[in-house]
Amino acid sequence: MAEFNNPKEYEEKFDPRLYLETYFHLGSGSLADNFIRFQEEQFHKAFSSGKVKGHTLIDIGTAPSIYQLLSACEAFDEIIATSHTQRELCELQKWQNREADAFDWSSILKYVCDLEGNRITMKEKEEKLRGKIKQTLLCDVSKSNPLAPAELPQVDCVTTTVCLEAACRNNEAYGLALKNICNLLKPGGHLLIGGDLGANYYEVGAEKIFSLPVNEKFLKDVVGENGYRIVELASFGRPEGDDDASDYEGFYFIHAQKV
Ligand SMILES: C[S@@+](CC[C@H](N)C(=O)[O-])C[C@H]1O[C@@H](n2cnc3c(N)ncnc32)[C@H](O)[C@@H]1O
Repeated sequence: MAEFNNPKEYEEKFDPRLYLETYFHLGSGSLADNFIRFQEEQFHKAFSSGKVKGHTLIDIGTAPSIYQLLSACEAFDEIIATSHTQRELCELQKWQNREADAFDWSSILKYVCDLEGNRITMKEKEEKLRGKIKQTLLCDVSKSNPLAPAELPQVDCVTTTVCLEAACRNNEAYGLALKNICNLLKPGGHLLIGGDLGANYYEVGAEKIFSLPVNEKFLKDVVGENGYRIVELASFGRPEGDDDASDYEGFYFIHAQKV
């Protein structure tokens, strides 16, 4: 039977600001440096290919992050950001509202602007993304409409990063979450998922946060069995000597299309 995370885990145990400060200063030597470079390169490749584009993109489990949307804003007119908790949403809103104590994304903005050939400045990029995020909604992938009570027309693309491993306590739940997300997509619409391979936990301060360990064979099967056709699955193995804030074995990025 599908089991999802305890709804209180992210509201009470997970400090979204500490998560950002720990993992999202690129070049700081955290284990997320490789993760960020890998995921940004994959998103850049997908969105600059000309094949993944359209009117609306929904990112599932956005808050408190925005790194996963920096390339998306070049290929879509509108982005719908989402959050599973109020606390994470508040952190995202600080960035949306340009508050003085919002998280500083400049190390990652620089990386993505470099990847895109510095056609625009980091500041312009940040403003472009802010302008494209037209709505911010609450989400729960355990629901057949993950954005309920909001009812939206089906969209061209859904993205999600390190969210399904956080939300799903077992493989059945991962499959059900994919099926639920599929309800948000038009037939032929694109699904881009980035995440960790083989991780049972990751640390945020003193808290060890649960992660569902997944491998490539499972991912290929579960995506294929829940309404999609895989276009590409890319992965990256854990480098020697990486710090032990997580027992992850690597990262993955999947591009799939709704059949
Ligand atoms: C590691 S964080 C990732 C956040 C962001 N996507 C990123 O890439 O940094 C895991 C996210 O999964 C979200 N989450 C946990 N359970 C969820 C659920 N049932 N539905 C949707 N999101 C969920 C958490 O609220 C949290 O934002």
